Amino acid sequence: MTPTAAAATIVTHATTPFDGQKPGTSGLRKKVVVFAQANYAENFIQSVFDAVQPPQGSTLVIGGDGRYYNRTVIQQAIRMAAAHGYGRVLVGQGGILSTPAASHVIRKYGSKYGASGGLILSASHNPGGPDEDFGIKYNIANGGPAPEGVTEAIYARTQTIDRWQTVDAPDIDLDTIGTVEVGGMAVEVIDPVADYAALMEELFDFPAIRALVASGFTMAFDAMSAVTGPYATEILERRLGFAKGTVRNGTPLEDFGGHHPDPNMVHAHVLFATMFGADAPDFGAASDGDGDRNIILGKGIFITPSDSVAMLAANAHLAPGYARGLSGLARSMPTSAAADHVAKALGIPLYETPTGWKFFGTLLDAGLATICGEESAGTGSDHVREKDGLWAVLLWLNILAVRQQPVAQIAAEHWARFGRNYYARHDYEALPTPQADALIAELTASLPGLPGRAFGPLTVATADSFAYTDPVDGAVSRNQGLRVLFEGGSRVVFRLSGTGTQGATLRVYLERYEPAGGTLDAQTPDMLADLIVAAEALAGIARHTARTAPDVVT
Ligand code: G1P
Ligand code: ZN
Repeated sequence: MTPTAAAATIVTHATTPFDGQKPGTSGLRKKVVVFAQANYAENFIQSVFDAVQPPQGSTLVIGGDGRYYNRTVIQQAIRMAAAHGYGRVLVGQGGILSTPAASHVIRKYGSKYGASGGLILSASHNPGGPDEDFGIKYNIANGGPAPEGVTEAIYARTQTIDRWQTVDAPDIDLDTIGTVEVGGMAVEVIDPVADYAALMEELFDFPAIRALVASGFTMAFDAMSAVTGPYATEILERRLGFAKGTVRNGTPLEDFGGHHPDPNMVHAHVLFATMFGADAPDFGAASDGDGDRNIILGKGIFITPSDSVAMLAANAHLAPGYARGLSGLARSMPTSAAADHVAKALGIPLYETPTGWKFFGTLLDAGLATICGEESAGTGSDHVREKDGLWAVLLWLNILAVRQQPVAQIAAEHWARFGRNYYARHDYEALPTPQADALIAELTASLPGLPGRAFGPLTVATADSFAYTDPVDGAVSRNQGLRVLFEGGSRVVFRLSGTGTQGATLRVYLERYEPAGGTLDAQTPDMLADLIVAAEALAGIARHTARTAPDVVT
């Protein structure tokens, strides 16, 4: 850059308030056609800058999952940052930064250059393309999603906004690494993978994993044509020595090849077929659009995310980054209690939080928890402030390299020690909101009368509406899901999705606990049959919604 470049003239555009962001949500997620309306993306970015009031000379990290419209919004965000006193923008080459990599870059360069935050452009596992979804969210200097106070301030600003400001400058070359100048501000195009890969090398025993690979261990990783492709290719194939082709669908595409980049049995069915097929590799994994979710499979076995967080926690000390042990574990309330048994055995606290990664942030910042997980394929640790798909894959690989056992055996030994939490989630999607609200209201009213009542072989022990008090900042969150706990540790949880875009989505979480010595190798649907009947009897799902089966089972 030319250090003497004169600050460019700020251009002010008039605008009007908009209702894009719901209060309290971490960012804005809409169809591309909505984002493409005049002033729309600009209004949100301006609302962020007005709410955050970045100190002069701050650093802003920008990157996204590569979906359609990513580049357009990035160019505009760079110009707007120049008009708001930022001293430096760091942007991933090609506009790419996975969500966990963005979190790391914010943390790393925040300490190098001073106060920092980031704009992450993604709609996670939602499809991409001109007719599909786009999203922007703001992360704060700790690398995590903006907390409620900040998102409320952003929302409040969207209600009064009357102008957005930018500088008059051409688009930069996003594909060439190096530093350019926009309106007196430095824009550094960085390698999106390098910093993240270096962090993974610090945490995990790469030589041990390389030796495992050299011994003939094979793997399939499905990047789903989304952001993890470059990360997985660099780390798995180049640094760890897995064969070329181990990473499938490894080139990020603007429309994810027309698929949903959602790693589940439906959208990652090819990977599931591979892992349950005759020539299955030893290990299988996939990540979502922006790289924060993961699924884990072995030959002929799928490890539920709830089990995965428990198994990772029980074995984390085998990885150099966690050899000192864990300070605590945290899981969202609907996530199975598998992690609880591990926490108990390790003698460390277990925090049960409401659904959503943001609730782990205060625990991680305060050093109360080291590993966190959600049943919805999110796992992570205190190395960043987002969930991290490849991190979970690499911790599994580290454990496999040390234990020298197949995934299925690690699972079997885990259950033999801690017992097994059979688990499934049933989703009823696009319900008319009044029907879903009526179901929840009626069930809520019935909760006090449930303890002691029998549903088939199950007897209710306790029933409540989950409320959470953050142990660090004391913030109270109520109505975070209805939970019915049966004697013996089985459970049904009901809650409405906070991220659905069409009507209401009812999620029913079913969990049956079999203690060590019980039935540990049965089929999950068989083990959950009584709970499914009990869930219907408790909530009257068919009566309220006229649905007799869930749309999605995960
Ligand atoms: C879903 C998941 C939740 C996750 C969130 C964001 O939220 O259930 O665990 O944190 O997406 O990825 P929900 O739609 O259930 O509110
Ligand atoms: Zn995601």
